[in-house]
Amino acid sequence: MHIYALISQKGGTGKSTLARQFAVLAGEAEPSLLIDRDPQRTTTKWWARRQDLAPVPERPDLVDVDGTSLTAAAAALRRKSAGTLFIDTRPAVEEPEAEAARIADLVIVPVRPSPDDLEAVGETLKILRRLDKRAVLIVNAAKTASRATSARAALSRYPVPVCPIHVADRTVYLDASLEGRGVGEMRGAAAREAWDELRQVWTWIQEMKHEQ
Ligand SMILES: Nc1ncnc2c1ncn2[C@@H]1O[C@H](COP(=O)(O)OP(=O)(O)OP(=O)(O)O)[C@@H](O)[C@H]1O
Ligand SMILES: [Mg+2]
Repeated sequence: MHIYALISQKGGTGKSTLARQFAVLAGEAEPSLLIDRDPQRTTTKWWARRQDLAPVPERPDLVDVDGTSLTAAAAALRRKSAGTLFIDTRPAVEEPEAEAARIADLVIVPVRPSPDDLEAVGETLKILRRLDKRAVLIVNAAKTASRATSARAALSRYPVPVCPIHVADRTVYLDASLEGRGVGEMRGAAAREAWDELRQVWTWIQEMKHEQ
């Protein structure tokens, strides 16, 4: 079992969007699982909408850890399941997020290319460093390629790998969220472009995990 935690102290960076999209993408190759540790339950609601699709997609599965500790649940999953687990977290870096970070093989930190977000990511990385946890940065929801490029340049001051491919700001991600789908499960050129971009980002993340 490979475990990834999506963490950022700042809200709205794309933790839930990327957790879900990567879970669908990883599910193409092997079992994939999601754990929703955010009381807003956005990922749980997306998953519930997915159960209304026909046919119901087999992956990802949602694991309910209410009543058990995340650490115990992850240890049990590591023992008995193969595949990939994504843990979506709250917009915070406190004990529940630290727990998700500790059990993860790699932490994925999405960051929007806005001045506020770029500044706020420092605090998230500081806490992850204190936990001695490897992380990667993904520029998400960039309106233009040049904004993504300057965001990556700004992020290069941190001792954390920055994905050379960014995730663009696309309405198809909103549609996918509404429909309980991965963008790869949608029709049209916009969905295909999004899927292709995500696939490249996901490939890079897996390479980063293997570099440990
Ligand atoms: N690449 C993108 N293109 C367009 N919209 C996006 C993109 N990524 C995220 N969004 C939208 O931005 C909003 C915030 O994204 P999301 O919910 O994934 O962030 P989050 O980090 O999980 O937020 P929170 O901190 O509240 O949990 C959502 O409405 C989502 O659909
Ligand atoms: Mg969220």
